[in-house]
Amino acid sequence: MGKTYKIAVIPGDGTGPEVVAEGLKVLRAVARKFNFTLQFTHLDYGGDRYLRTGEVLPADAVSVLTNHDAIFLGAIGHPDVRPGILEKGILLHLRFALDQYINLRPVVLYPKVDTPLKNKGPEDIDFVVVRENTEGLYAGAGGVLKKGTPDEVAIQESINTRKGVERCIRFAFEYARKRNKKKKITLCGKTNVLTFAFDLWERTFYEVAKEYPDIATDYAHVDATCMWMVKNPEWFDVIVTDNMFGDIITDLGAMIQGGMGIAAGGNINPEGVSMFEPIGGSAPKYTGKNVINPLAAICAAQMMINFLGEEAAARAMENAVKSVVAEKLQSLAAGKMGYGTKEVGDLVASAL
Ligand code: IPM
Ligand code: MN
Repeated sequence: MGKTYKIAVIPGDGTGPEVVAEGLKVLRAVARKFNFTLQFTHLDYGGDRYLRTGEVLPADAVSVLTNHDAIFLGAIGHPDVRPGILEKGILLHLRFALDQYINLRPVVLYPKVDTPLKNKGPEDIDFVVVRENTEGLYAGAGGVLKKGTPDEVAIQESINTRKGVERCIRFAFEYARKRNKKKKITLCGKTNVLTFAFDLWERTFYEVAKEYPDIATDYAHVDATCMWMVKNPEWFDVIVTDNMFGDIITDLGAMIQGGMGIAAGGNINPEGVSMFEPIGGSAPKYTGKNVINPLAAICAAQMMINFLGEEAAARAMENAVKSVVAEKLQSLAAGKMGYGTKEVGDLVASAL
């Protein structure tokens, strides 16, 4: 008998429930095949619950979640709720409260997928962004004075701690070693302007690097990183960066790997409970139409299975996604796949 894993499932808003349903379909199939058990706890956190109860998260949310082995999240963001409330109150709150200090976002172009980059293929686009996930501009430091007057002052500060920076950088080095590809890690920063924050990042990076003589190091400013991601994505293996830059460059990453339909990520606490999600939003305009691409959610589920230690099952899931993408789908864009959301889930489950 294989192991049993307790998974908290937060379908969330918009198309979240539709893509999560397909993720669960594939998870059930892979668990059966690889002989392990997944116990799902469904949680209704999201915009509808907030509108109904006035509460973004129930008081026991964090203790409920820490009682699980992993979290599978759909999407957070509701058209009837002012931007920021759900994002900060649910998504960012959970990342912080569960100390998920890494946001791991692979940027991989699968065979036969269209990329907007001319003359680039799967051999060129295969890297991973390690984004710091609990500090930086996201920490919420700052404030506002004289709001709404001509003298208004708005300050938003980036918090970077030695501990937070170092644990992120260490994770990235370990990941580069385990990944065992180009064995190269690029620090993405802005040392020419953000001379306090990225001085800390740079010093820490080169100190930690001494412990990893097998990993080559490189540095690129964030603006140049964007340029290289388009011009020479093959230069990258592992990119490590702060929260805000990581947020921005991973949307660019998603586009070069074929779009939000396939881009997945994990909010990782290596010593705690991690949360896996498609990186696109709740896509209200596609909600309930069976047109959204569930592959990003399926890929997030795949990352989760890998992190739980079921590596053979995770490989099978990845191969199933690859084969469906190469042999069946016309496009990865919503409404253009040649199949509906549910049919794509069926295809992946049967390709296992
Ligand atoms: C992401 C999202 C979030 C972020 C938003 C929804 C708060 O853009 O996961 O990249 O900025 O981190
Ligand atoms: Mn983002």
